[in-house]
Amino acid sequence: MKDALLQKIERRTAQVGIIGLGYVGLPLAVEFAKAGFKVIGYDVSKRVVKLLNDGKSHIKDVTSAAVAEMVRSGHFVATADEPRLGEADAILIAVPTPLAKTRDPDMSFVMAATEAVARVARRGQVIVLESTTYPGTTRELLQPALEGRGFVIGRDVFLAFSPERVDPGNEKWTTKNTPKVVGGLTADCAHVAAALYGACIDRVVLVSSPEAAELTKLLENTFRSVNIALVNEMAIVCDKLGVNVWEVIDAAATKPFGFMRFTPGPGIGGHCIPLDPHYLAWKMRTLNYKTRFIDLAGEINSEMPAYVVKKVAAGLNDQRKSVKGSRVLVLGIAYKRDIDDMRESPALDVMRLLEELGADVSYHDSYVPEFTEEGVRHQGVALTDASLRESDAVVIVTDHSNVDYQRVVNLATLVIDTRNATARTIPGRARVVSLSDASMKAREVEAKS
Ligand SMILES: NC(=O)c1ccc[n+]([C@@H]2O[C@H](COP(=O)([O-])OP(=O)(O)OC[C@H]3O[C@@H](n4cnc5c(N)ncnc54)[C@H](O)[C@@H]3O)[C@@H](O)[C@H]2O)c1
Repeated sequence: MKDALLQKIERRTAQVGIIGLGYVGLPLAVEFAKAGFKVIGYDVSKRVVKLLNDGKSHIKDVTSAAVAEMVRSGHFVATADEPRLGEADAILIAVPTPLAKTRDPDMSFVMAATEAVARVARRGQVIVLESTTYPGTTRELLQPALEGRGFVIGRDVFLAFSPERVDPGNEKWTTKNTPKVVGGLTADCAHVAAALYGACIDRVVLVSSPEAAELTKLLENTFRSVNIALVNEMAIVCDKLGVNVWEVIDAAATKPFGFMRFTPGPGIGGHCIPLDPHYLAWKMRTLNYKTRFIDLAGEINSEMPAYVVKKVAAGLNDQRKSVKGSRVLVLGIAYKRDIDDMRESPALDVMRLLEELGADVSYHDSYVPEFTEEGVRHQGVALTDASLRESDAVVIVTDHSNVDYQRVVNLATLVIDTRNATARTIPGRARVVSLSDASMKAREVEAKS
């Protein structure tokens, strides 16, 4: 089985099935197609399947031209027809792993994909879970599902975990040139999975078990969450001390060793950093261990939107205005710069908290012209001179690079800058308030008439 599969991979005659064609699954499909494999993309969303088969991409990092090309060349087909997965020699699972309302892992998508795999699996397949999840998932969920079909793992079918490391919007580090960590249930499982990824990804890093691979991803994202929380707390510390946090970070970052630059902001967003550490915290709770760093980081990061709103209220107060009735324009709502991803964006909390206080909130984001949250449709406004001039406060939540921040500072009255986007502007009409304000007074500048 193993040798036959390795040979198919080597000759590019192995068919690759991908379950879940989102931010992770679609770029992966493109890489396998480019490497000469035939890819069967399976997704429960008929809309996504139709779009892709029509040669259109729904993911910003993947161009429609790339999708159209792999469809045209016969290297890719999307389907919502589960049995077609049975044709694949390799099945990669890239379905969502969100949190339930209780902040516990919502494993329903992984469970559904596991059940699908168990139904279509046949001897001679390699199956790899890519979804970020708690350590033990591959062994505890996928292994029994496959064994339930009578397969011996490592002999009949090969099973591994390999975390995806997609960074949406990152043009330097892509699916192809970001090293891929792989942990197999057995040595042969690891060997086959590594050969598969090695066929289209520049570097494969083998670890000794699926748990090590699962935990690698959680360490990476917990590391980010904890370090972002640290600089967020440092912003609050600096605010109380009247020191500019950006200046301190810039200075610390000149140290050529032992320091890594992280920047504060209005909170954390995206599918990974706010959620993944909770998978580990949950798993450890089942083992009677409390992950203190994870919990504290989550607490500090999730309090940042309220901190931003406090800054807005203080800025308005300084101008003898209340939040209630003030027109507040939120500038940038995607969870980070130059992408259109709104998942878990702290902008949603900032807007909700302002609305709860009675502000008249609008937003502008050229990447997110509209969005629906809890059944309510929100429509962005154009960034006109009038919208800037007439706002009582402009809150920069996401610092997209296509915004002219000098114009914002020139036209607005009050700018709450949570990202240091106005650092290189010269003083204009607006009072600019940063997260840590050495500066409420220092940067207060009268309009030049
Ligand atoms: N987005 C990122 O930046 C990123 C980075 C690294 C890892 N991850 C992880 O990768 C996994 C996938 O995330 P994503 O961002 O690609 O999600 P996504 O929401 O963009 O895409 C998931 C796709 O899976 C489909 N789907 C859901 N259930 C399915 C099922 N049972 N069968 C077939 N298709 C199904 C959905 O319709 C959707 O198209 C998650 O575990 C996530 O944590 C995401």
